[in-house]
Amino acid sequence: MPRQPVIALVATGGTIAGTADTPGAVTGYTAGVLGAEALLAAFPGLGEIAALRAETLFSLDSKDMAPAHWLALAQRVQALADDPAVDGVVITHGTDTLEESAFFVHLTVATAKPVVFTAAMRPATALSADGPMNLLAAVRVAAAPAFHGLGTLVAINDRVYAARDVQKQRTHGLDAFGAGEGAAVGRSDPARPGLLVNRDGGSCAAALASAALPAVEVLYVAAGASPALLDAVRGSGAAGAVLAFPGNGSVPEAWKPAIDAALHAGMVLVRASRVPAGPVGHDTRLPASLLSAGDLPPSKARVALMLALACDRPQRFCTLAAPH
Ligand code: SIN
Repeated sequence: MPRQPVIALVATGGTIAGTADTPGAVTGYTAGVLGAEALLAAFPGLGEIAALRAETLFSLDSKDMAPAHWLALAQRVQALADDPAVDGVVITHGTDTLEESAFFVHLTVATAKPVVFTAAMRPATALSADGPMNLLAAVRVAAAPAFHGLGTLVAINDRVYAARDVQKQRTHGLDAFGAGEGAAVGRSDPARPGLLVNRDGGSCAAALASAALPAVEVLYVAAGASPALLDAVRGSGAAGAVLAFPGNGSVPEAWKPAIDAALHAGMVLVRASRVPAGPVGHDTRLPASLLSAGDLPPSKARVALMLALACDRPQRFCTLAAPH
C-alpha cells in the first residue's frame, strides 16, 4: 500500500479561523480566533487524504501582518519543508494580505515540495463557510506530485494560483481572488492540474537569515497628490519606496524634483502602477536609477524590493520584476 502523504498545516489566523455571533454574519466578525486543531476538527475526512501535522503559528487578522511575521513564517515553512518526513506544507491565512505573505514565502523558501496557502471569505461559523472546502483543496494540492517544483501556490475557490500573480481583487464574495492579467494556473482537482508560471521560487532564500527587513513604503499617487509624501518617507529614513502612479506608471511633473532628491539621498525607488493589471511602461526620459515594477502590483513590488535590499543587491529587484 502506498504511504499516505504527510502534510504540515501552519495556521496564522484570518477569516478561515474567524467566528461570528450568528451563522448569517459575513461581516463584523472576529478573524483569527480558531487554531489549527479546530480547523482540522471541522472536517474529519481530511485524514483520509493525508496525515496532517497541525500547528498554530499566529492568530492574526492579516491586516496586522508585518514583515517580521513574514520572516518568522518563511523560516518555519523552510524548516518544515526540510523535514524528510513532510511531503508538503499548507498555510491558512487571512485574505487581506495573503498575496504579500505568499509572494514572500515563494521568493524565500527553497524547496520542490508544494507550499500552498489557503483562506476563506466567510468565517468558520457561517452558513456554507468556504474554509473547509478551501482547506481540503489546499491539502489535495500539497499532497499531489503534479504540483511539485512549482513554487508557492494559493488554492482558493476551486482554483490554484501562482503566488507571484495572485491578488485579492474583490472585497466581498467567494470569488475574491484572481491573478491580474494572468489566469488561475490550475484546478485543485489533482487529476487535472494546470500549467504554472511561478518563477523565482526560493531565489531570495538568503534573506531568511536577516534579523529584520529594510523599511520600504508604498505611496499611492492620486491626481494632484503632493510630492511631500515622498519627502516625508525620505525623512523617515526608509531605504526605499514603491510609487504607485496612475496609468502605466506615469510620473506627474510635480513629483520629479522629489524623486531626484530621494534618489540623490540614496533611496531606492520603484515606479509601479495603481492600475490592477498590466506592466509599467518604458520611459527613457526618467532617471535610469528609477526602477520599474514590471507587472508586479505595488504590494508585491514592495516585497521584492525589501528582499533585494535585504540581500544587498538592489538591482536584483529588476530580475524579480521583469514581466513574464
Ligand atoms: C484577514 O485578512 O485576516 C481577515 C479577512 C479575511 O481573511 O478574509
